[in-house]
Amino acid sequence: MELHILEHRLKVASIAKESIQLFTYGLIKLAFLSSKTRCKFFSLTETPEDYTIIVDEEGFLELPSSEHLSVADATWLALNVVSGGGSFSSSQPIGVTKIAKSVIAPLADQNISVFMLSTYQTDFILIRERDLPFVMHTLAAEFTILRVVNGETVAADDFGITNGFVKPKLVQRPVIHPLSSPSNMFCVTSLDPDTLPTVATLLMDVMFYSNGVKDTVVGSEDSGHIRFFSFSLIEGYISLVMDVQTQQRFPNNLLFTSASGELWKMVRIGGQPLGFDECGIVAQISEPLAASDIPAYYISTFKFDHALVPEENINGVINALKVSQAEKH
Ligand code: ARG
Repeated sequence: MELHILEHRLKVASIAKESIQLFTYGLIKLAFLSSKTRCKFFSLTETPEDYTIIVDEEGFLELPSSEHLSVADATWLALNVVSGGGSFSSSQPIGVTKIAKSVIAPLADQNISVFMLSTYQTDFILIRERDLPFVMHTLAAEFTILRVVNGETVAADDFGITNGFVKPKLVQRPVIHPLSSPSNMFCVTSLDPDTLPTVATLLMDVMFYSNGVKDTVVGSEDSGHIRFFSFSLIEGYISLVMDVQTQQRFPNNLLFTSASGELWKMVRIGGQPLGFDECGIVAQISEPLAASDIPAYYISTFKFDHALVPEENINGVINALKVSQAEKH
């Protein structure tokens, strides 16, 4: 298996809901007019708290510098596991489940903080650029590590860290943050970039003007329903994560879903904002899922983490994670 270190240098930022209008000029360009920019990695996720933006340095220049943009103080690099046959091969179990044991757990064991972005096509593991030598050292045994330079993959130089890490003992990793599960069902979809113009106005509505939509579409009292929408345009591939109410606003057959057309339920992780330094949160959630072979997508946002699991597994997953949570005492 190969681990690719992508060349994008990424910023993770948060925009307050009420300030989104200050940024829409740049965000519309990044999402819909990307050929007018040099951006190759852009993602926008709306949650009840804020908008989280993950964008490369080139794209970051499209956003005004403003006190209303909080930027996590690091440059992040994206890692991507490639299992032969092209970078978006999908023969393996979906999502973080397939990388939980080989990537996420070893990084957590070495106290390396990650930030996850699953998309329809693949799963990006973001690490801080300054942690790269440790990441490479930690994962070198498991993977052929390649760096992408000017679009070409080249062997990654050994960073010359020879003082071996102490092999961590296999400790339990209890879930330490509060969990909740919103009532919405989600789908993870993609869109042919050529058809983006046909849904651009709808997407703009969903992304920037649909705050009140849950009251009208979902009906009166659904307190467990949350606002969550994620758009990404990464190396020319579009991925959209939305709830079924939002999906129904799209023309038929325009969005692709995986053949099984699964619906997903969300586990939200975090009571207080999780920050960027804490390690092992993704591992706490993804290891039990991997142990039970439950596929999962995982999307970190500026404040909280979000795992998506198949609808039929949600009760089992919540119960298993609650048991793991109880073990901390
Ligand atoms: N750093 C966490 C980990 O290593 C995941 C990200 C949590 N933080 C956040 N702002 N979403 O597991």
